[in-house]
Amino acid sequence: MTRQSRKLEHLKYSLLLEDGPAAAGFTDFHLIHNCLPDLAWRDIDVSTAVAGIPLPQPVIINAITGGAADVTAVNRELAEFARQTGTAIAVGSQYAAIEDKSAAESYKIVRKTNPNGVIFANLGAHAVPDAARYAVEMIGAQAIQIHLNAGQEIIMSEGDRDFCGYLSHIEAIVEKVDVPVIVKEVGCGIGREQAKALVNIGVKAIDVGGTGGTNFLAIEAARGQLKLDAELLAWGIPTAIAAVEAVSVIESAVDVVVSGGVRTPLDVVKSLSIGGAAAGIAGPILKTLRDKDLDGAVHWYENFILDIKRFMLLVGAHNIHDLRSSPIIITGFSREWLSARGINTVKLATRKKIG
Ligand SMILES: Cc1cc2nc3c(=O)[nH]c(=O)nc-3n(C[C@H](O)[C@H](O)[C@H](O)COP(=O)(O)O)c2cc1C
Repeated sequence: MTRQSRKLEHLKYSLLLEDGPAAAGFTDFHLIHNCLPDLAWRDIDVSTAVAGIPLPQPVIINAITGGAADVTAVNRELAEFARQTGTAIAVGSQYAAIEDKSAAESYKIVRKTNPNGVIFANLGAHAVPDAARYAVEMIGAQAIQIHLNAGQEIIMSEGDRDFCGYLSHIEAIVEKVDVPVIVKEVGCGIGREQAKALVNIGVKAIDVGGTGGTNFLAIEAARGQLKLDAELLAWGIPTAIAAVEAVSVIESAVDVVVSGGVRTPLDVVKSLSIGGAAAGIAGPILKTLRDKDLDGAVHWYENFILDIKRFMLLVGAHNIHDLRSSPIIITGFSREWLSARGINTVKLATRKKIG
């Protein structure tokens, strides 16, 4: 299988398959209506920053594609969408261009189309520091995402089978690149032990990439025509739970990005209330661009951001900082999970001072 057809198949199956089957967990998380918001609409500020990079709104178009001539048009459209909406965008893994420099055009199109935007580079954790520097330079990236995807690799017939030494690889990248390093999972989640280990080596943001959204085990199973065990297909940490875990162990200098099945404006608001600096979304952006034209997708997204503001007003939160100190109630399976991990959910539910 050529890289070109693999990239096309990832796009094809990500559009065909449903989210999940495991949930992202947001339905266990509840914000409280504030009938006295003491705010004016004009005061609502959705701006944020990830790894020290200011963002006008708390959403990132997460890594999707690149690396083959046939996906250059997809990257051009995603970059144009990012430009028109002012949204940060990550390119797909640039490993293809490390192996074959002629593939670089399919990534460079993102910078050409969106010359002043925030763009993140992307590579796997086996990358050497020189490759990471090249990936950043290729697109003038403000940060680089390093993805972790052991679940996907072990289903792919051509995938990696050796995951040793990743933490020290990432540490070497952190030391040698001039931009912040963001480590992300692609759908199985990052637990707090690994989040802490990543923070300890100098990573500036953790994108928890949990279950509930695009499922790369399912995509690889569909590509390989494999019948995957149902429990394997549902493997991973639900996104909302992974976000609470990560926030519980990292200092304020490091940001948490919440991704994997973030689907609604309220999911984003809950992600921020948990302590995320931003939410990452991939599959729905692709699906919306497929279902609507570019103008339609931009309109959909503007409404999405508008609804984020509406929920912020109804919670009584001026900004993201306020959301982080608003009570969030965690119920059901998520509460049981987090309690079992010694995380105090009552503190989160009662954190606003009364009177
Ligand atoms: C077609 C497609 C290709 C992707 N390729 C990459 C990639 O190259 N590198 C990466 O870090 N994540 C990649 N992802 C994963 C996304 O960045 C994201 O982590 C995942 O889709 C979960 O988010 P979602 O549920 O909003 O789609 C890809 C996603 C899609 C849909």
